[in-house]
Amino acid sequence: MEFSYRHVKIMKTKTLKNLFGLRNLNREVMERIFEETDYFRKRIDNKTAAGKILDGKSVINLFFENSTRTQTSFELSEKMLGMTVVNFSKGSSSMNKGESLLDTIKTIESMKFDFLVVRHQVPGIPYLIERFSSSKILNAGDGTNEHPTQGLLDIYTLKEEFGDLKKLNVCIIGNISHSRVARSNIFGLKKFESNVSVCGPVSFIPRNIEGMGVNVILDTDEAIKRSDAIILLRVQLEREAGAMLSSLSEYNRHYGISFDKIKRRSGLKILHPGPMNINVEIDYETSVSDKSLIFRQVTNGLAVKCALFKIMNES
Ligand code: CP
Repeated sequence: MEFSYRHVKIMKTKTLKNLFGLRNLNREVMERIFEETDYFRKRIDNKTAAGKILDGKSVINLFFENSTRTQTSFELSEKMLGMTVVNFSKGSSSMNKGESLLDTIKTIESMKFDFLVVRHQVPGIPYLIERFSSSKILNAGDGTNEHPTQGLLDIYTLKEEFGDLKKLNVCIIGNISHSRVARSNIFGLKKFESNVSVCGPVSFIPRNIEGMGVNVILDTDEAIKRSDAIILLRVQLEREAGAMLSSLSEYNRHYGISFDKIKRRSGLKILHPGPMNINVEIDYETSVSDKSLIFRQVTNGLAVKCALFKIMNES
């Protein structure tokens, strides 16, 4: 059962065919994903097999942008579940001989993969692929639009740490205007009624961001004081963020989180989707401190992906 609002389809059951973003995912589906994530997380911790429950299914990972965490954890989760895994690399593909993205997708569609994972620099590419593909699609990050698996693993990590997400004060500090991670987290956390704020230089804060139900904090000390958890973001130089700053050292002075700034703030937790730019948005001491959830996020990301494949296989 589902209804449409313009192009946005809102699932009204706990099933999931495609994962495009958290904007169109309801809370009940996210809760179901987190229940399954609990199960896979325990199996990962205990180093027990995930059951090869998708033996006989096939998946292709299409990464048109660089990745360490997302690509590796997708591939590992797929193999843990017993799928046949194919990794597509643009660099060694016939796109280098002039083949278009569309023809590439149609060619891949002809091989009838059950799942297609895609990361692409252009917002909305997963929706375009859906028009030409019968595979179930998982968005692994589409330009500045959404990064739903990152949003899910971040929210799962916050839930694991704090329990109830309602009224949890979460501040996202950094390059908000270029961040698909920020957008997915805002869409997801608002559905759990968290108090979400964003912080960064004015040039990094999108105009009308308040329309997404978030508060803007321009001072980092204020953000540290008012937050239970801070999600730090990288300055995305590949998306021309450098041109919006006077310098990276200036950014670090005003918006970078050092352990010195947070050590007296008891209970505060720090998240970062990675990759980190040490001594730009975060210092090394913070990243390895007991306030950091950063490496637990990575483990949870693996469990979230196992959960997603299991649930999507049912639809
Ligand atoms: N968080 C994240 O998407 O990291 P990668 O770019 O390494 O996948």
